[in-house]
Amino acid sequence: MHRRIPEGNGDRKMESNRRPESMARIDSQPLAEKFIEESLSEIKKKIGDGKVILALSGGVDSSVVAALLIKAIGKQLTCIHVNHGLMRKGESEQVISVFRDQLNANLVYVDATERFLGKLEGVSDPEQKRKVIGAEFIRIFEEEARKIEGVKFLAQGTIYPDIIESKGVKAHHNVGGLPEDLGFELCEPVKFLYKDEVRMVGKALGLPDSMVYRQPFPGPGLGVRCTGAITKDRLEAVRESDAILREEFAKAGLERKVWQYFTVVPDYRSTGVREGVRSWDWPVIIRAVNTTDAMTATVEEIPYPLLKIITDRILAEVKGVNRVLYDLSPKPCATIEWE
Ligand code: XMP
Repeated sequence: MHRRIPEGNGDRKMESNRRPESMARIDSQPLAEKFIEESLSEIKKKIGDGKVILALSGGVDSSVVAALLIKAIGKQLTCIHVNHGLMRKGESEQVISVFRDQLNANLVYVDATERFLGKLEGVSDPEQKRKVIGAEFIRIFEEEARKIEGVKFLAQGTIYPDIIESKGVKAHHNVGGLPEDLGFELCEPVKFLYKDEVRMVGKALGLPDSMVYRQPFPGPGLGVRCTGAITKDRLEAVRESDAILREEFAKAGLERKVWQYFTVVPDYRSTGVREGVRSWDWPVIIRAVNTTDAMTATVEEIPYPLLKIITDRILAEVKGVNRVLYDLSPKPCATIEWE
């Protein structure tokens, strides 16, 4: 089953898609600083006094591109952050505080939660959910882009694995390809970098660790972790339980040791009892996996006392939940995500 959202800009001509052989691996702070210096002068040369837009998800690739462009051309860049309502707790707030408040960026923040949830109402098929989210994202990005006059360039966080794995296409890691028909020239300053190099550059640019070392997060966000047709109560339960899981993993020092960890709230209920009264509530499923390439994955052996702390907190703090389960399934047979 093809689970990705269709990518929009496959036919677009790229300048050159080969990492230059002479390019050294960026594996130290001085090399990251050298890359930044060279990259800033290339960006300035390419953009001149032109205007640039960028879809800023808050993921490491688009954040690093934004930080580079802000350094190079300041307010000639407009970052557009579309909150599809499927972000993790605090994520959009962090984008605003880092980029608008700390880096003084031109940032358009669009809270499109109600629009996305409206479009997703009653949509239970996972493929269809991805399509709806991808299409709506592009529509909103286009609407915002058209409001800005004289834009010549579209910046993207394409990285080298995107080029190798998807023929030069950046499936915008939040939600899919970006608009093709607006006639923008592309600006892709990290397109020859591998993920670890992008992180190194992000660190050298002074971005917070929580952004630079962010665990992979699917484009359709919590939408694929709230299985079946998304409802506000279950979406809130996924968001709150995910926040608890992340907080407890950080406290236990597992934050950067486990590759990906999250919670899922499926669309079925079970009986429970609370203060002598029967309940009919949702379960929360915890998933924590390790992998190198996401093609296969093993399950992290979480210490039992930690599982107990997380379980107790979820049951006490998350509304509408009466059970907590731990997913013990490796990939294969299971995928990492539940949808
Ligand atoms: P699966 O579930 O296929 O996931 O084992 C492998 C990796 O891909 C991520 N994933 C996605 N990322 N859009 C994305 O950008 C998606 O639709 C999507 N589906 C899965 C998943 O989180 C894991 O890291």
